[in-house]
Amino acid sequence: MLQLKQVSKGYGHGQSSNQVITDVDFSLERGEHVALLGSSGSGKSTLLNLAGALTTPDSGQVLFLDEDFGAMTKSRRAKVRATSIGFIFQRFQLINSLTAMENVSLPLLLGGGRPSVAKREALDLLERVGLSQLAHRLPGQLSGGEMQRVAVARSLVASPLLLLADEPTGSLDSNTGKLVLDLIIGEANRCGTALLLVTHDQAAASRLPRQVQIVDGRLRAGYGDGGDFGDGSVAGVAGDEAHDAPGRQTLSPE
Ligand SMILES: Nc1ncnc2c1ncn2[C@@H]1O[C@H](COP(=O)(O)OP(=O)(O)O)[C@@H](O)[C@H]1O
Ligand SMILES: [Mg+2]
Repeated sequence: MLQLKQVSKGYGHGQSSNQVITDVDFSLERGEHVALLGSSGSGKSTLLNLAGALTTPDSGQVLFLDEDFGAMTKSRRAKVRATSIGFIFQRFQLINSLTAMENVSLPLLLGGGRPSVAKREALDLLERVGLSQLAHRLPGQLSGGEMQRVAVARSLVASPLLLLADEPTGSLDSNTGKLVLDLIIGEANRCGTALLLVTHDQAAASRLPRQVQIVDGRLRAGYGDGGDFGDGSVAGVAGDEAHDAPGRQTLSPE
C-alpha cells in the first residue's frame, strides 16, 4: 500500500549539506502496524514526512496505492492526504481558534465533505476517544492528554488507509501516554488502518508486530538494545544522546 523505493533525502547544500535518509526501501501493507525507531536526529520525522507526502525525496519514489506522489498534481496530493492519510504529531498541532469538534471535522471538510456530515462524524469520533463532553472546548482549555485524544480523533475521522504518528506520546506523562497509545493502536485495529508509529520508546515499539529502525540514514529490520546489532556496528537506539556522526546536527530532546 505504501512503498518507498530507493529514497534519499538531505537538507541544505554544499558545505552545510546534511544527508539524512539514504537509499531507503520500505513497504507497508494494508492494515499493517510498524514501529519506526531511531535516535534523536536520525531522520524518523523526515521518513514519516516522506511517507505522508509532506516533503519530497531528493531521489527515489514514494508510492501510495501504487501511485507515485511525485507524479501527482499538487491538488491530487492534497486530496490523497486529506482523504487517505491521517497524521498525529508530538505537539498535537490542533488549530487553537477552532473547537475540538471543528478540529476533528477539518479533514472531512478539506476532503470535500458536507458540514453536517462532518460534524456528525466528528462528534462520533470524539465520543470514541471519550471526549464527548469537551467537544465545544478550544485546545487551550484542554490538557495535553485531551488534546492528543482530539488529534487521534482528527487523524481517524476520514477513515484513512494509513495513519502516520510521530512520537504521539512524546510530550505526555507515561500514564497518559500509555492510554493514548492504547487508543491509537485500538482504533487503528478497529478501522483496519495501517499504522507507522515513530517512537524512541522500545516498550511502545514492542507493542507493534513489526519494528524497523533508522541507523546512519539506513533502515534495518528489528531493533536492539542500543548495543551491537550483530553486524559489527554499534548503534544507539535506546539512548537519545546516541551517536553524533560528523555533519549531523544534534537535536535537543523533543
Ligand atoms: N527542515 C529541515 N531543514 C534542515 N535540516 C533539517 C530539517 N528537518 C530536519 N533536519 C535535520 O535532519 C536530521 C533528521 O531530522 P529528523 O528527521 O527530524 O530526525 P528525528 O525525527 O529522528 O529526530 C537532523 O539532523 C535535523 O537537524
Ligand atoms: Mg522527529
